[in-house]
Amino acid sequence: MHPVPISVPALVTGASSGLGEGFARRLAGRGHELVLVARRTDRLERLADELRPLSGAAVEVLGADLETAAGRNRVAGRLSAGGPWLLVNNAGFGTRGRFAEQDVKREDAEVLVNAFAVRQLMRAALPGCLGARAGGVLNVASTAAFQPIPHMATYAATKAFVLHLTEAVATELRGSGVRAMALCPGPTRTEFGNVAGVEEDFAQMGPLYMSAESVVRTAMRAFDRGDVMCVPGVVNQAGVTSVRLAPRFAVRRILDPVFRKR
Ligand SMILES: NC(=O)c1ccc[n+]([C@@H]2O[C@H](COP(=O)([O-])OP(=O)(O)OC[C@H]3O[C@@H](n4cnc5c(N)ncnc54)[C@H](OP(=O)(O)O)[C@@H]3O)[C@@H](O)[C@H]2O)c1
Repeated sequence: MHPVPISVPALVTGASSGLGEGFARRLAGRGHELVLVARRTDRLERLADELRPLSGAAVEVLGADLETAAGRNRVAGRLSAGGPWLLVNNAGFGTRGRFAEQDVKREDAEVLVNAFAVRQLMRAALPGCLGARAGGVLNVASTAAFQPIPHMATYAATKAFVLHLTEAVATELRGSGVRAMALCPGPTRTEFGNVAGVEEDFAQMGPLYMSAESVVRTAMRAFDRGDVMCVPGVVNQAGVTSVRLAPRFAVRRILDPVFRKR
């Protein structure tokens, strides 16, 4: 496969920071028209002003809270109104702590943003892509998708959903000219660590704590090739492989203390 043609516009969710901002910069550099989605529209407006001269194409800001049906429907409506699209389903966040003690509303929102919105927006984008035999969807999962994670139980489960959904849909799309890829980053230097309360743990990982730029660069290369899954970094790849080979009870027990709150 080749890179998605720049005539296909890109919509990036969670473009106000971290990986989403990185994807927006990279796609603008290629010359795609862009739609930037997040809640913090002040940040999106600043990014759009910076990216317009870089891309030479239109950069639109679409404020939406993906926790809400209204926000998700606004973005889904934009996607289903035309196409094809290059959709980067990136918005998401993590929560940490014992499942039974977690803030119920916050974890409801986590499922809605990380999983429900990803499925809804991919469903909205694909018919236009299939009609044009172009474009596709890059869904941001995580290395957390490969195993249950005690003390980040809901987060890991949402990412397993994204990985399985994407792999299944990508297989259905074979031969259609449309691609779907799950990106599974390990710890990455963004605002995620602070939001999820894991920044101190991530900061101790030294070189394993990857930059957003290098994750985005690796992801775009894999997406250009038509890969179905991308795990950036050899150490993350080794981790994912060992988790697949190890007995599940051992994986659960090894991970139990890792994100336990101290
Ligand atoms: N960083 C890591 O270590 C890591 C590892 C594996 C996977 N990931 C995944 O990578 C993706 C991007 O995260 P990041 O690392 O770049 O973290 P980040 O810097 O915190 O960015 C998260 C983005 O998601 C958006 N977002 C959150 N809740 C939203 C909502 N309700 N509605 C709309 N947008 C919302 C945020 O925008 P607003 O706050 O402006 O709405 C922000 O742009 C996430 O899906 C995350 O799970 C991250």
